[in-house]
Parts: sequence; C-alpha cells; structure tokens
Amino acid sequence: MSKKLFIETLGCAMNVRDSEHMIAELNQKEPYELTENIEDADLIIINTCSVREKPVAKLFSEIGIFNKRKKEGAKIGVTGCTASHLGQDIIKRAPVVDFVLGARNVSKITDVLEKKHAVEISTDYDESTYAFGEYRSNPYKAMVNISIGCDKQCTFCIVPATRGEEISIPSDLIVQEITKAVATGAKEVMLLGQNVNNYGRRFGGSEEKINFTQLLQKISKIEGLERIRFTSPHPLHMDDAFLEEFASNPKICKQIHVPLQSGSTKILQAMKRGYTKENFLNRCTKIRSLCPEATISTDIIVGFPGESNQDFEDTMDVLEQVQFEQVFSFKYSPRPHTEAQHFTDVIPDEIASERLSRLQARHFEMLAAQMDDQLGKVHKVYFDELKPNGRVSGRTDDGRLVFVEGSEELLGQIKDVKITKTSRASLDGEVIN
Ligand code: SAH
Ligand code: F3S
Repeated sequence: MSKKLFIETLGCAMNVRDSEHMIAELNQKEPYELTENIEDADLIIINTCSVREKPVAKLFSEIGIFNKRKKEGAKIGVTGCTASHLGQDIIKRAPVVDFVLGARNVSKITDVLEKKHAVEISTDYDESTYAFGEYRSNPYKAMVNISIGCDKQCTFCIVPATRGEEISIPSDLIVQEITKAVATGAKEVMLLGQNVNNYGRRFGGSEEKINFTQLLQKISKIEGLERIRFTSPHPLHMDDAFLEEFASNPKICKQIHVPLQSGSTKILQAMKRGYTKENFLNRCTKIRSLCPEATISTDIIVGFPGESNQDFEDTMDVLEQVQFEQVFSFKYSPRPHTEAQHFTDVIPDEIASERLSRLQARHFEMLAAQMDDQLGKVHKVYFDELKPNGRVSGRTDDGRLVFVEGSEELLGQIKDVKITKTSRASLDGEVIN
C-alpha cells in the first residue's frame, strides 16, 4: 500500500509549483497518494509563504494542531519561504517538526526526509539545471519555472532573502519540460519566475543566452502547445519588443500582470522599484494601445512608511487611469531581512486600513462595470476542471473564470462560449461551438 501525503500550499504560484516538484521527487523514490485528511497522512508538509507577517503566526498554531491530529509515526515538514528565513528556529520552537526545507532546496525533499531534524535552507544552492520528475496538479495545464530567485532589492520584500539570487533556467530544459507536458495532455503552460521578463540575466552554465522575448518565441514553436501564460513580469523590463511580442503572438494569452505597488514616484523610489508613476502609466498605455483586448492585473501595497495622503491619491489616480481588471492589494507588513523594516515614518494601522478599504471599494465598482460588459460576449474557453452539479470551468484567453453546464467531455477542449450571466469573480456561459 502506498504512503499518504498531506500537503498544504500557501502563497504564490511559485509555491504551488514547488509543491508539485516535491510530490514528483517523493514519487520517484516511492509512491505517495495525496490525502486531504491529516489523520491518514504518513507525511505532512506545510509549504509556507513569508511575504506578509500573518502566515508566520499561523504556522506555529497550525503545527500544534497537526501534531495533535497526526497518526503515530507520521512526519511533519516545513518547507518554503518561512522555512528559508526561520530555519533551525522552527525546530527550536516546535521540536515536533521533523525537517525544514527552504524554498530554493525543494529538490532535496527525499534527503531531508531521512534525517531527523534536518535543515536545508541554503540560498546558494543551484536548482536551475535540475530535471524534476513529472507531476501536475492539473493534467490540462503545466507550470514551468523559467528562473529561480530574485536580484531586485525592493525594500519591502523578503523574497530575495528566501529564494536567493536570480538564475535563469536553460531554455532547452524549459522547452524539454513543456514538450513532455504537452505530450501528456497539457495545452497550456504557465511560465514562472519572480521576474520573468528579466529572463537571461544570469545562467548557471554556458547555455544559449536568450532574453524573455526570444524565449517566448522559442516556446511558441512547440507543436500542440496552444496557450502561454507567465507570472510575474516586472514593469521595469517591459520594453517595446516584449510588449509587441505579447500583443502579436497568438499563443500568448492576453492577460498581463503589471505590479504597481504604489502610484507615487516618491514611494516607488523608497521602495527601490526602479520606475516612476509616469513610466508605469506609459507601459500600461502601450499595452492598451497594442493590445486592447488584454486584461491587466496588478499588486498594490498601501501604508508603506512615509505614504502621505497625496501619495495614496497618486495610487488612486493610477487605478482610475489604467482601469485594472484585477487588483491584489495589501497593507504594508514589515519583514525581516528587508531595508524598509528600519524605516521610521510608520503609517498607523487605522489609516492603512482606511486606504485599503477605499482602494478595494473603488476597484470593485470598476470591476462590476467591466464584468457587466462581458454579457453576450463570445470567448474561447479552455476547460480544465470538473465542478459539482454538472458544471465545468475554464479560463478565457484573457484569464477570466467561466462556468458552463457540461461533462468531462469538455475537459482539455477549447470552445467558443457565449456569456449569459456575470458576477464579480466569474462568468457563466453556454458552449456555442
Ligand atoms: N516578484 C513578484 C513579487 C512577489 S511578492 C512581483 O514582482 O510581482 C508578491 C506581492 O506581495 C508583491 O507584489 C507585493 O505587492 C506584496 N508584498 C511583498 N512584500 C510585502 C510586504 N512586506 N508587505 C505587504 N505586501 C507585500
Ligand atoms: Fe520581491 Fe521586488 Fe523581487 S517585489 S520578488 S524583490 S522584484
């Protein structure tokens, strides 16, 4: 009988892919079956995020709960970014944890499993040429890393400390991984990196040196691959050649994340983002003009140290001007290993909360109008998930979630769908072709 694995994945798409990597690695050694019940698991993994403070506090209470519920002899491992930055301290504070594995070391999962209280968190470790075993949580879509780590020094962000310096994965390895995924049923790929459009910055070895635009061109030649998505690009590296490729390459989905963080040039400077409000707006205008059908999503932080009312109004102004289709917004959270944790002009929590509510309320108003506009439109939808009550879901090319009535025959198919009903988070439709 195969062993059972319970794995909880917090945080970003990169963590989702790291969890897949760990499952693949474990399965190459001995078969594991995934379970949703802690009580049944032989191995419990918490794949953590440390971008904001809340999940760290949650982690220790969760370890306690899991320890009470786990069966005799089951192991608990803490992996991901919190593992990277707390390391040994996790075991000191919670000795029930059997191993700690950093975000840049996931390929070592089978090694740490064998050593009691192993801690592997080196950010110098080079996983960039590592060929991982195959495992996909969704058979119709593949996630593929194109780079690891991040060389930027955004003053609020802990990621460079947890994931280490940026290394690009050799393009031949990327193509090989996608080709394998396509051969086993994936028509869509999501390219992953902290800074995807900085691809080519540094390779571990003597690989062919190409940039992100060239990588996109190379990947789009893969036969049978129909859709390419990527996350996250950085506004600083959105040169015209890249945006032209984005707009004109029919395999690239017309959905782009352009993380703003703040609309104030003064705050952007304090964040060391490398662009101004005007540069940012210029890039979004370029996207809208080259590719009016594209949706633009963004990340915004409110309450960064020193953010005045006027700075916040600048952020609201960018919101009005760009009319983002999706906004992920957060209150600033001071993090260890970052410059901004030492900044003194701290914004009181009530003010940050107020700003966040105002921003979200305004975005929801804009979103409601945008979603209403979708009524009667026809989209190409790639169906990838069976839902309860005879429904199937998929995504439009521009990234919107659509539900239709149907059965598993639709899975893995791209169909024309007419939108019949809208809500804030998703669309309902019927297959017309
Ligand atoms: N490389 C990614 C960022 C990864 S972190 C990118 O450029 O999109 C994901 C998001 O979390 C960031 O874009 C930022 O909006 C938010 N974030 C990061 N650190 C934060 C902090 N200290 N407080 C609040 N939000 C933060
Ligand atoms: Fe973080 Fe900035 Fe890199 S947000 S992941 S340091 S681009």
